[in-house]
Amino acid sequence: MICGMTDALDATHATIDLLKSHASVRKFVPEPVDPTDLQAILDAGRQAATWKAFQSYSIIVVEDPDVLAGIYQCAPQPSVKSCRTFLLFVGDLSRAATAVGMHNEPFHPTGVESLLISAVDAALALQNTVIAAESLGYAGVQIGTIRHKSAEVSALLGLPDYVYPIVGLCLGKPDPSVEPRPTPRLPHDVVVHRDRYQPATAEALRAYDATLSAHFANPDHCWSERMVAQWGVPEVTASTENLRDKQLL
Ligand SMILES: Cc1cc2nc3c(=O)[nH]c(=O)nc-3n(C[C@H](O)[C@H](O)[C@H](O)COP(=O)(O)O)c2cc1C
Repeated sequence: MICGMTDALDATHATIDLLKSHASVRKFVPEPVDPTDLQAILDAGRQAATWKAFQSYSIIVVEDPDVLAGIYQCAPQPSVKSCRTFLLFVGDLSRAATAVGMHNEPFHPTGVESLLISAVDAALALQNTVIAAESLGYAGVQIGTIRHKSAEVSALLGLPDYVYPIVGLCLGKPDPSVEPRPTPRLPHDVVVHRDRYQPATAEALRAYDATLSAHFANPDHCWSERMVAQWGVPEVTASTENLRDKQLL
C-alpha cells in the first residue's frame, strides 16, 4: 500500500459510515448549536452543487426564542419545541429578480421548472448541512410540515415575492436519552434499477411494510398506509396557494 493511501481509504470509509449511520433526532439538549460550529456547518452546506451556480435558495437561521415560538406555532412538533437552532431552507428567486433587473430585462419566474431548480438546490444544501452537522456530533430532523403554513411562515420571517419555504431543520446535540437508530431503507433492488426501470411489486412493498413495523416494534406502523394519508387524498393546497402568492405558479 502506498504511504498515505490507507489514510485516504479510512477517510472514505469514515464518510460512508457517517452517511449510513444517519438517523433523525427529535429531542435535543437545550442549547443552540455552537456559533463556530454553525458557521462551519453552513459553509459546508452552501458548498453543495447548484444549478448553474445560481444558488436559488436561502437559509434563515432562527435562534431568537420569540421567532422560534412562532415557528412552533406553524409546525407544532416536539422536535421544533425542543431545538434551540432552527434553519429554514427557502427557494429564492429574489436575487434572480434583482440580477435580471440589473440588465433591464423582463423577469419570468413562474413555472414548474423554476420550482424544480430552487427546490433541488435547497435540498442539496440542506443535505450537505445535515451531513456536516452530523460529522460534528450534532443531529437533527427536517420539518416539511412547515409548508402547511407557508403564508404564516412567510409573514413571520418576512419572505418577499419569489421566496418560498421548502423545509425546516431542527439542529442540536441529541438529548442523552436518545439513541439514534438508522431506519431500514427499501431494499436495494426496489430503488436501484439497472439499465431499465422495473416497477416495484406489491409483494416487495408488503415485505417493507413488515420490515418497518418490526423495526419500530409497532404492528400499527404501516409504511404503505402512510402513503395513503399523503397520496390517497387530493393535495393540501397551502403550498400551491403560497407559490401563487409569491408569483412562482
Ligand atoms: C423533506 C423532509 C421533510 C420531513 N419532515 C418531517 C417532519 O415534518 N417531521 C418529522 O418528524 N420528520 C420529518 N422528516 C424526517 C423523516 O420522517 C425521516 O427522515 C424519515 O422518517 C426517515 O428516518 P431517518 O431520517 O431517521 O432515517 C422529513 C424529512 C424530509 C427529507
